[in-house]
Amino acid sequence: KQIDLIGATTNFGQPKPGVVLGPDALRIAGIVQVLEAIGHDVSDLGNVYGKYQTQFVKDNVQVKNGLKNYDEVKDYSEALAKVTDASVQNGRFPLVIGGDHSLALGSITGIAKHYDNLGVIWFDAHGDLNTSETSPSGNIHGMILAELLGVGDKGLIDTYNEGPSLKTENVVLIGLRDLDDGEKELIKKRNILAFTMSDVRALGLVEILDRTMKHLAHCDGLHLSFDVDSLDPSEMIGTGTKVPGGMFIAEVIMFMERLSETGLLTSVDLVEVNPLLDTFNQTAENAVLMTEYIFGKRKL
Ligand code: ARG
Ligand code: MN
Ligand code: MN
Ligand code: MN
Repeated sequence: KQIDLIGATTNFGQPKPGVVLGPDALRIAGIVQVLEAIGHDVSDLGNVYGKYQTQFVKDNVQVKNGLKNYDEVKDYSEALAKVTDASVQNGRFPLVIGGDHSLALGSITGIAKHYDNLGVIWFDAHGDLNTSETSPSGNIHGMILAELLGVGDKGLIDTYNEGPSLKTENVVLIGLRDLDDGEKELIKKRNILAFTMSDVRALGLVEILDRTMKHLAHCDGLHLSFDVDSLDPSEMIGTGTKVPGGMFIAEVIMFMERLSETGLLTSVDLVEVNPLLDTFNQTAENAVLMTEYIFGKRKL
């Protein structure tokens, strides 16, 4: 693959400092080198910046209609969308490394305009399906999939291009174990295909991948939005919203190996790596390990 590696140094979607260092932690863990070793052509485009500076110290967060750092998230998303849009336009494969999950608004709006039906696998402990009314935190990273589906703030929904970027029937969530009430309601109301951790334990990830690919069979592009907090905190400590009872590296590798075998992936986000919450960069290293399997490494 011709991969564009895009650093999304945003922490505007959540308050914990350090997630802007995620892209460099992943570079230090060798993300470029391992992808090249598999045989990919990797172009590291560096980090994307919007017009607002990273807030290293959160003393004065701007809130608009219950949404924290509204202007910053919107501006950052527009800046990132330009880069992912150009990447797909140039026939390259965007691999966006974050950064908090709010980056998906920019990443996916830039990518989605190239497809009639972009399928999205949202791999996460959380639904990220809140609106300002249902959010317990006001943090936009917990609302970003809702915005992409056209639910929530009109200004955010209209980021980069007007109207929703994704259709509800084209999205599948996997790994859920911390949903707020409003998110549960939205999943039911819109009939979104969602696999909780209980489903992962009861069905296994092979069956879940099978059902996911059947559900998305009509899609003309496939995006993986991989939040590292989908993994169990015992194996992924360096992330801001850890939830016990997650998936383990071995089974996620198996899932990614099979997903990559389909040859259908067209873009990826890897998000919520926070080296300031980590020990010895092991979260970035584990994330790079899984990235290898997403991009075609095989056990055999
Ligand atoms: N549901 C919680 C909230 O809305 C947590 C969201 C965590 N999201 C994430 N991308 N890690 O604040
Ligand atoms: Mn998330
Ligand atoms: Mn999450
Ligand atoms: Mn839009």
